[in-house]
Order: sequence, then structure tokens, then C-alpha cells
Amino acid sequence: MSEPSSFRPGLFAGRTLAITGGSTGIGLAIAQAFARLDADVHVLSRKPDHLANAATALQGLGKGKVGTHACDVRQPTQLEAAARAIGKVDALVNAAAGNFPVPFDAMTPNAWGTVVDIVLNGTANTCRAFRPVLAKEASVTNIVAGYAWTGAPGVSHSGAAKAGVLNLTRSLAVEWAPVRVNAVSPGPIDGTEGIKRLADDLGLRGQLEGSVPLRRMGRAGEVAQACVFLASPAASFVTGACLVVDGGQDARGPFGSLLAGG
Ligand code: COA
Repeated sequence: MSEPSSFRPGLFAGRTLAITGGSTGIGLAIAQAFARLDADVHVLSRKPDHLANAATALQGLGKGKVGTHACDVRQPTQLEAAARAIGKVDALVNAAAGNFPVPFDAMTPNAWGTVVDIVLNGTANTCRAFRPVLAKEASVTNIVAGYAWTGAPGVSHSGAAKAGVLNLTRSLAVEWAPVRVNAVSPGPIDGTEGIKRLADDLGLRGQLEGSVPLRRMGRAGEVAQACVFLASPAASFVTGACLVVDGGQDARGPFGSLLAGG
């Protein structure tokens, strides 16, 4: 089901989106939301089969072109080649991520390094590679997570990396103005790999929903609408910000479950 768009049809006609990790999950929903508003959409992802699925999912959604680029965000030369092939970019979204739950004590140095390499270095690599092709007033949006500032058991590697991405977001917002650089922090989004693990494999769906003041999980399309907003003229004075799209989960704070009965 596609999220109803609050934005005017054709908003991104003649504009180009490049998105890493745009072939599955939240990244694909973001790519679809831009495509529906007639952007030319370029998806960067490691796996050719995922790229083929994304091309099918994007084709015909809007009037813009669809491009796919096999790219590992850990490989700067691949990113540079994709940036050259795409040309001028108006909106860049860093949605590529890698994560697996493992306690810190059981984490090998390579496990730590792999996630940090994808999430933090991958975002920096992508920003560096696309900098020469960003339009003068382009928008860059980095996808982070609430545990970037709270921390969370089992995801110390990803949490530390996303905290770094949040910090990079603010530094680049200052260094790169008038390019705007923001972050979006999704809460529990139904259907994503990590949430499937918690909700379905571990049977924690009820607890997850109960931890959200809006009493449900989010939809990938709702995160996509936040990304569209940040790239749109409606957000022309917004930079260095983190837009939290989590149904109020973060606002609930440490005493929320005691006082709100959640
Ligand atoms: N638990 C503990 N360690 C793990 C692990 C797990 N579930 N999965 C991978 N690792 C470790 C590996 O053992 C390896 O360390 P080692 O060499 O010391 O043994 C290290 O992490 C790298 O793993 P590898 O599989 O070689 O890396 P990769 O580059 O091929 O893939 C990921 C890395 C993150 C992309 C891959 O683990 C993955 O597909 N994860 C699930 C999908 C995903 O992350 N989606 C995004 C959700 S946000």
C-alpha cells in the first residue's frame, strides 16, 4: 500500500534523487515516494537481484527516469563512478545500512568494523563521492535511528556508527551550506528486517506497539514522506536537523512505561 502524499503532483519533475540502500525496505519506500512525484530516481545497492526488483517497483510510478547502480558504499571508486554516471543530483539520501544483533562481548573486531564501515564510513564515502555533482541548493538526508542517542543492547556497532552519522550531518550542514544536510530517525517500522526479528521471531509485537505512544508501528511510507519534506522547498530553512518519525517512542523517555502504562 502506498502512503498518500501530501505534496503536489510533479513536485520533483526535472529533479534527481540518488539513494543508497534504496532497493529494499525503508530505502525503497523513499525511492518510490520521490518517483511518484516525478523525480528521476537512481538507486545504489550492492545486490543485482535487489536492484532488478527495485527497478520493477519504481517503473511507471511517475514521469521521471529510473536508474540502478551496483555499488558497495564501502568502495569509494564505485560510488564515484555512479556519481559521474548520474550527473547533477538535487537530493541525496543515505539509507544503506548493515546490522545484526550481537552483544558487544560476542562481537569480533571484524563484526564491529563491518557495520561501522557500512553505516558511518559508507555515509561519509557517499557524501564525498557525490559532493562534486550536488546541485547548489541540494538536500542530503541521512537515515539514523533513535538508538544513536540512547544506545541499545545488541546494536552497539550500529548505534555508535549512527551516532557518528548524526554528528556528521550537523558538521556538513554548516560546512556545505547552502546545501542542506539533515537526518531522519525512524522508530519501529513494520516489515523491516530488524523489526521482523523482534516482532515475529521473538514474539515481541505487542510490547513493541505498546512502547509507542501512538500505539502502533510506523509504515515505511511515513518515513518516506519525512524525507520528501526535507528535500522539498517546504524545508528550505531546515538544515542540521534530525526529524524523528517514531510515533513518540523517544519522547516517552525512561519513565514512560511506568507512568503511561505502556
Ligand atoms: N552475529 C555475529 N557476528 C556476525 C553476524 C551475526 N549475526 N553476522 C556477521 N557477523 C560478523 C562475521 O562473523 C564477520 O566477522 P568475522 O570475520 O570476525 O567472523 C563480520 O561480521 C563480517 O561479516 P560478513 O558476513 O563477512 O560481512 P558482509 O560484508 O558480507 O555483510 C552485512 C555484512 C551487515 C551486510 C550482513 O551481515 C547482512 O547481510 N546483515 C543482514 C542484513 C542487513 O544488515 N540489513 C540492513 C538492516 S539495517
